[in-house]
Amino acid sequence: SHTRLWGGRFGGGGPSDALTALSRSTHFDWKLAPFDLAGSRAHARVLHRAGLLTDDELAQMLGALHELSAEVAAGTFTAVESDEDVHEALERGLTEKLGTLGGKLRAGRSRNDQIATDLRLYLRHSVRALVGELSSLEYALVGLAERYQDVPAPGMTHLQHAQPVLIAHQLLAHAHAVARDVDRLRDWDRRAAVSPYGSGALAGSSLPLDPDAVAAELGFDRASDNSIDGVSDRDFAAEFCFCAAMVGVHLSRLGEEVVLWTSTEFGWARLDDAWATGSSIMPQKKNPDIAELARGKSGRFVGNLTGLLTMLKGLPLAYDRDLQEDKEPVFDSMEQLLLLLPAVTGMVATLTLRPEVLEAAAPQGFALATDVAEWLVRQGVPFRSAHEISGSMVAFCEQAGLELDQLDDDQLAGIDERLTPEVRSVLSVPGALAARSARGGTAPERVAGQIAALTGLATEH
Ligand code: ARG
Repeated sequence: SHTRLWGGRFGGGGPSDALTALSRSTHFDWKLAPFDLAGSRAHARVLHRAGLLTDDELAQMLGALHELSAEVAAGTFTAVESDEDVHEALERGLTEKLGTLGGKLRAGRSRNDQIATDLRLYLRHSVRALVGELSSLEYALVGLAERYQDVPAPGMTHLQHAQPVLIAHQLLAHAHAVARDVDRLRDWDRRAAVSPYGSGALAGSSLPLDPDAVAAELGFDRASDNSIDGVSDRDFAAEFCFCAAMVGVHLSRLGEEVVLWTSTEFGWARLDDAWATGSSIMPQKKNPDIAELARGKSGRFVGNLTGLLTMLKGLPLAYDRDLQEDKEPVFDSMEQLLLLLPAVTGMVATLTLRPEVLEAAAPQGFALATDVAEWLVRQGVPFRSAHEISGSMVAFCEQAGLELDQLDDDQLAGIDERLTPEVRSVLSVPGALAARSARGGTAPERVAGQIAALTGLATEH
């Protein structure tokens, strides 16, 4: 058909229906249209500066691109059946407005450098929104930690009671992970800020274009140094999918804790009604669906990364049509995160913790046994023996159905003569927390310091 970008050397019959159906990408690449149009405006200016468009032609071209942008935004110009991809559709739109002048814009560029540029523009733009959402989540986690700042809780390893911690310390552990995600995406942007425009199909252009001017106009730091790399590099897409998968894994781990904490067996937390769901048959149910969807969606983020890397593996340079498969995983990871994050943030921000339950559970499971061992070490006992002695104390208590702090002087001495009554000084949860006051510890002042630092970070984002 007359709208094909590559009709010249082909017979009049047109491509087979099956090929057309396979080849078409407008149903997913249409969201790149605003970025493709931005690239076209920059390219038109560069053609004009190179003397390839007159002043009048440039004015007409920019006018038509402006109109087309408005129509795309309003949804009055869309791709049609015969458009292979977003580039072809937009060139059709331009030609419908300008006639043969529309065909001049294609000089010196290729869909290969266009698509590589468009995807970078889309991602750099969307990542800014993503960073905003992640900052909100970080802020919500820090807010929750602040609200329950002094509440002790069981710290777990292997999902077994290990040592008491402040629940705020645990919430802030999640906040630190989110802060790293933000940092990672910023770092990603530094490498993504390279413009492939000017690479052409793969070898650059013989026309006197100015890739750096296009790069600057599109907000990139610089243009590609190598045109083959320019059209074939999808590191930025894979790296983004990794960043998204890492976010997804963080959200799934947070989600799993919310699922546990809101269970009857834990009873540590309650979900706000607006952020929980019910059952169609069981009237009493209040389900943590957001937390579960966070856990569940991590699978597709990892899948998108794996699929993309697998597609890229072994591709010969420069452009191959396989690369068209880069877009759906990237779009899916971005869109799903932008859908998921506001829900997770709302769930966290409205979560109610139950301090009395947390506090009562904190010392359970002989969680202060390490403190006994470390007390013995301070009395000069080698840790190896101290560990043994504290372990015997636990075994004795388990047998006798007692807690560590319920042993009398004789029982203590009976277990080991080095267990003097002074050992009781470390058998308190507040004492155990306060003692862990080095950097990174769960002592209240260290937790307060983290809150201050993370609040600063979140507002700075
Ligand atoms: N739709 C293509 C893609 O997404 C655009 C580039 C096509 N280039 C080509 N030579 N067929 O990768």
